Amino acid sequence: MEGKKILVGVCGSIAAYKSALLVRLLVKAGAEVRVIMTQSAQSFITPLTLSTLSKHPVATEFVKNAAGEWENHVELGLWADLILVAPASAHTLSKFAYGLCDNLLTATYLSAKCPVAVAPAMDLDMYQHPTTQENMTKLQRMGISIIEAEHGELASGLVGTGRMAEPEHIFDFVESHFSTEKRFEGKRVLITAGPTYEKIDPVRFIGNHSSGKMGLALAHQLAGEGAQVDLVAGPGKYSILSDRIAMTAVQTADEMYEAVAERYAECDVAIFAAAVADYKPATVADQKIKKSGETMMIELVKNRDIAAEMGLQKQVNQLNVGFALETENESTHAQQKLSKKNFDMIVLNSLNDKGAGFSHDTNKITIFKPSGDSLKFEVKSKTEVAKDIVNAIYELG
Ligand code: CTP
Repeated sequence: MEGKKILVGVCGSIAAYKSALLVRLLVKAGAEVRVIMTQSAQSFITPLTLSTLSKHPVATEFVKNAAGEWENHVELGLWADLILVAPASAHTLSKFAYGLCDNLLTATYLSAKCPVAVAPAMDLDMYQHPTTQENMTKLQRMGISIIEAEHGELASGLVGTGRMAEPEHIFDFVESHFSTEKRFEGKRVLITAGPTYEKIDPVRFIGNHSSGKMGLALAHQLAGEGAQVDLVAGPGKYSILSDRIAMTAVQTADEMYEAVAERYAECDVAIFAAAVADYKPATVADQKIKKSGETMMIELVKNRDIAAEMGLQKQVNQLNVGFALETENESTHAQQKLSKKNFDMIVLNSLNDKGAGFSHDTNKITIFKPSGDSLKFEVKSKTEVAKDIVNAIYELG
């Protein structure tokens, strides 16, 4: 990000305080940051905070000072390598969508030739409103990246999707946007992620605690490096920050199998990061099963092994990468899976390692290759782990 010129737009939202953290992260990474604030943004955070952090005066009006000097929005727009509006209010999103131009931010947006990304922030119903959704779709069609809002508690006290993506997540987006190493340009990568839910009856299922975070981090890393990513994901919350990622949501192992089988022949690399249920109920009850005896049995039948079956179809120009989560004899089990499923590489997480596994934001991995070589890594964030895995995949190719 060193030397990249980023114009941060700040709109009126309680999330405006987070733009201070974002600006700090960007400056710390070496970016040159300038900030434009709308008038209502200044009710939430002062220009002084952002000018101190960005080390540049903050632009707020068409007229710069008492001498009547013009704040040249055309120059600002052409200066930027990226315009990043965070937080982006519903109002500003709709102005962007329709080309309305009533303040310095909207005028700069219309003057700019560089890529634009917006991180919406609003209450959940405003975010879900068909008008907001339509505006975002329209912006996306125009090539603007939407850094999707996240789920959590909102200023209204309600809980839902609408809060601005965390500054670290926006930073990750910017980092991958500027990732100069487009090592996977022109490559198609298929990734499975998350758990599968195997239905017992209309209200119950057998599942597991996989969050899908590792698969999602890999998807973003690879998309940042130029790949076109097909993400086939089991139930979970996935905040997709790249238009190079096409997500297909599935529930069961059978649905995951079908989605993968449909896409496998087209991919250059397949990464099997999902925690697929090994078994499913032999029958799914049509109605909710009523409580009866003291014990109850559910007959389970084996699910198809997606990775193993794709391993049988693998062509010489394809690479398959597997995951193994083990609790004992970790290396032996991982290496057995490597050869049994015809993987070119397997990533082992051991539940015995602190900070590794399903619901953590961190992971500790060892990578095994068919040659017997192994690479051990320290505990890192899943984003950092994704970089290590992607480096190892690149070296295989
Ligand atoms: N896998 C898959 N389809 C399945 C089961 C597993 O694609 N039905 C993939 C996983 O995504 C992972 C690898 O196979 O990349 C190993 O998964 P794991 O559950 O550790 O292996 P299993 O073969 O199911 O072995 P076990 O559960 O007995 O350890």
